[in-house]
Amino acid sequence: MLNRPGSGVFISFEGIDGSGKSTQARALAEDLRAQGHKVVLTREPGGATGAEAIRRLLVEGDPDRWSPETEILLFNAARRDHLEKTILPALARGEIVITDRFADSTRVYQGTARAALRPLVDRLHDLVIGLEPDLTFVIDLDARTALARGLARDSGEDRFEVMGQDFQERLRAGFLALAREYPARVQLVDGGRAPDQISADLAGRMQRFLGALA
Ligand code: ADP
Ligand code: TYD
Repeated sequence: MLNRPGSGVFISFEGIDGSGKSTQARALAEDLRAQGHKVVLTREPGGATGAEAIRRLLVEGDPDRWSPETEILLFNAARRDHLEKTILPALARGEIVITDRFADSTRVYQGTARAALRPLVDRLHDLVIGLEPDLTFVIDLDARTALARGLARDSGEDRFEVMGQDFQERLRAGFLALAREYPARVQLVDGGRAPDQISADLAGRMQRFLGALA
């Protein structure tokens, strides 16, 4: 397990594919930078050179390419590299790290929606990651709207999106359950509003969170 260094702040965005995480993570990073904070904006799978190479194995190709167990190992391999190379150094410098997805995605995608493997996900997380965000925003959106937004992007990284709407519904339920499981850390955000409205809401929540730390 890794010990957490420094006095930085670790924020994650979570939610189903196409819910608006990347849009909001970017907007929050810009808002915080405009206030003079040092911010590292990053993403999973990826966020470091080795982790980005693993990302390509995960998000491209046949949906049945990996078993759920193999997927868990690959996501954790990518996360460990991301942690060592990007997240922990930034936190040690006292910066704010905003990541588009982290371990909650594995809990929900591999631990709940693809297979009932939550015990394996939790054990592996404790062994090789051992870090949770200080605050997690789950952007909640109905699966139909999110799927339409996600596939409209046509990014070529749609291995999970093509698993269909039922799968996305299970994911949404999984993220809502996670918010109930970790009420102190996970905040739900209504993703059905206009982007600017969501950003203003998040900026306000972030101010309150940082204010409470000071
Ligand atoms: P995610 O990172 O959760 O997959 P994105 O932020 O990439 O989602 O958004 C998916 C698509 O939906 C993008 O084309 C983006 O421009 C659009 N989008 C994001 N937020 C909203 C919103 N609040 N309303 C309408 N469209 C949005
Ligand atoms: P991402 O690039 O965030 O996709 P999107 O922008 O569509 O939300 O993530 C790529 C895919 O990987 C996404 O479908 C979710 C999946 N994923 C997992 O299944 N487990 C994980 O631990 C992570 C981090 C992502």
